[in-house]
This record gives sequence, C-alpha cells and structure tokens, in this order.
Amino acid sequence: MNKFQQIELVRPGKFNKLSLVENSLNSLAADHLRIKVQFSGLNFADVMMRLGLYPDAPPAPFCPGYEISGEVIEIGKNIKGLQLGDFVMAGMHFGGYSSICDAPAWQVRKIPAHWKSDKAAAMIVSGLTCDLAFGELARVRNSDRIMIDCASGALGALSIQYLLQLGVKEIIGLTSRESKMDIIRERGARPMLLKEWYESSEKVDVVLNSRGGESLHRDRSMLNPLGRLVAIGASHMVKKGRLSFTNVIKEFLKIKKVSPIDLMNENHGIFGLNVLKLFQQPKVLTKSLDNLSGGKFSLNPHIDKVFSPHQIEEALDYLGAGRSCGKVLIDWRKI
Ligand SMILES: NC(=O)c1ccc[n+]([C@@H]2O[C@H](COP(=O)([O-])OP(=O)(O)OC[C@H]3O[C@@H](n4cnc5c(N)ncnc54)[C@H](OP(=O)(O)O)[C@@H]3O)[C@@H](O)[C@H]2O)c1
Repeated sequence: MNKFQQIELVRPGKFNKLSLVENSLNSLAADHLRIKVQFSGLNFADVMMRLGLYPDAPPAPFCPGYEISGEVIEIGKNIKGLQLGDFVMAGMHFGGYSSICDAPAWQVRKIPAHWKSDKAAAMIVSGLTCDLAFGELARVRNSDRIMIDCASGALGALSIQYLLQLGVKEIIGLTSRESKMDIIRERGARPMLLKEWYESSEKVDVVLNSRGGESLHRDRSMLNPLGRLVAIGASHMVKKGRLSFTNVIKEFLKIKKVSPIDLMNENHGIFGLNVLKLFQQPKVLTKSLDNLSGGKFSLNPHIDKVFSPHQIEEALDYLGAGRSCGKVLIDWRKI
C-alpha cells in the first residue's frame, strides 16, 4: 500500500475549490509514526483558510487539517514507546485531511483505553486551546467569573467542562442564536445572547474572545480589575460561511490599538493564543498534550456530525454557517 487519499484546498477565496486526490507515500522519517487515519477534526480555522483569510496557510494547493486519530501502521526507527496497532491521536501542522498521516512522535499520544477514536480526534485542538488559554495564560482560579463567547461550539463545550473541573462556579456562555441557549445551559454555563451581554452591566475576571474586531474592546470593558482577556480568533470576518467584506474592512480601519498605559491604568491583561502555530513548538505543547491524554482532566468532546471525505465541502459549509453545536469530523473509513 503506497498510495493514500488526501483532501486538498486547490483554490482558496470566494470561488474556493477542494478536491480529493490520490498521492504516493514517501519513506517514513526516523522520528515519525505512520497513522492510518480514522477521523480528522474540522476547525473554524479551516473555514477561514478556505475563504483565503488565514495568513499562515501554505501556498495552494495544500492539505488542511490539524487533528487526527487512527492506528499506527509504521514506526520510524528512532521511535520508542509506541507499537504497530496502537490507536493514537495526533496534532498536525496541516495535512490532517488525509487517509494516512506521518506525524512526529512528540505530537502523537496513545488513546486511553476508555476513549473512542472519534472523541480522540475531537480532543486535540479544542483541548489544547482550553488548557493553554485557561490553564497557562489566564491562570484561572475557581473564584473567577468567566465569559466564553463561543460557548455553543466544539471549543465552548470543552471549555465549560474544563472550567467546571477547575471548580469554577460562574461561567457565562454567549451565543448569537436563541436556539442554542438550552445547549449552553445543559453544558453547565449561564447562556446569554450577544445582544444581552453588551447591554448588561456584567463584570467578569476572564474572557475567551473568538469573535475579534470590535468585540475585543467591548469585552475588555467588561473585565474586573486584574481581569484577563484571551484573544483566539476573528470569526466576525465570516458571515453565514462567507467572507464578510464589511467586517474585514472594519477590522483593518476601525480596530483600535491597545495602549500598555491603558492596560496599566485599568489593571487588565490581554493575551493572544494561536494553538496551531504551537504545533512547531514541542517544548510548549508537550505538557498540554500530556494533560489531555494523561487523565489530569476528564474531558468528553461533543461530536455534532460526521461526514465522509467526499462531503468535505458540505462539512465546511455546515461548520462555517454556524449550524454545528460541537465537533465536526471526517470519517476516513467511509472513503
Ligand atoms: N486561536 C486558537 O488557537 C483557536 C483554537 C481553537 C478555536 N479557535 C477559535 O474559537 C472559535 C470556536 O472554535 P470551535 O472549534 O468551537 O468552532 P465551532 O465549533 O465551529 O464553533 C463556532 C462558534 O463560534 C461562534 N461564531 C461566531 N462567529 C461566527 C461566524 N461568523 N460563523 C460561525 N460561527 C461563529 C458560534 O457561536 P453562535 O452560533 O452560538 O453565535 C459557535 O459558538 C472559532 O472562532 C475558532 O477559530 C481558536
């Protein structure tokens, strides 16, 4: 078997195009594992990439994808501790939309016996984001009040679980749709519509902001003294799965610069996090990967919908339109 299938983003932008292509395998590097992929996780970053809004994307055509789970089918000669037939999950720096992936061993973790393969693929990006945003950057304490602005999605679901396990008692979960409020409530957070949040006089200690743009400034104004905001995205640039030109222009023209003097006077901290960039930083990510697979937290990703590789455009449309309430996966066993 020296062929494998891969989904390539052939052309990003307004008239984007994705294709399922067949490629040949190269020989395996000494510090890599070869994985027969069962599930690939889709991320909102892939929606942005498809629209040409992701500056770190390689030149097209390229294979997107940041997280996979599957079975080890070949082992590089320097690898210790993992064996043929082991079921693993891995973070990928692109290339995860693929039936076979070669991954450096430090990015791979054995799936704990009681986990299912689909949950493992759904864990990596959201789980690392929780651990790095709340554990490492904002250093959340159980007395903190937290606001998550993407509470209805895959990351929101895991964030609420992570915070509840830290002992946090007050979590506000924002959504733009009334229909998603019950889901947020069932997950253990207090749901609020975006509009309600901005009309309220709520104050919180930590904000997870994924919408970006003007919401960053509005959310910062709702921080208590010593409050921390972690900026992780710019989803406001996408509207119903399409590029919002108005918001992109606003982003560049209207976004206010934050002055360190203001931060000092307001006693606020602002952090930025891009987990995907850290897939090239073994020292930073290793501890968080161990936290996810080693049982420090007992997280259970919520799977919303599973598509076949042939349905990749439909799957990204579904995610980009904001219809999902959890992780969207590609199942390579359906090829
Ligand atoms: N920087 C990082 O390292 C990092 C890592 C992971 C995720 N993120 C970001 O965190 C956010 C949530 O990620 P996720 O994996 O949970 O994605 P997801 O499952 O697709 O959830 C998307 C969430 O974003 C909200 N949203 C806001 N604007 C949207 C828009 N224009 N179109 C669609 N949804 C929109 C939706 O809220 P409502 O429909 O409830 O309003 C929903 O809660 C995304 O913006 C993603 O890029 C960043």
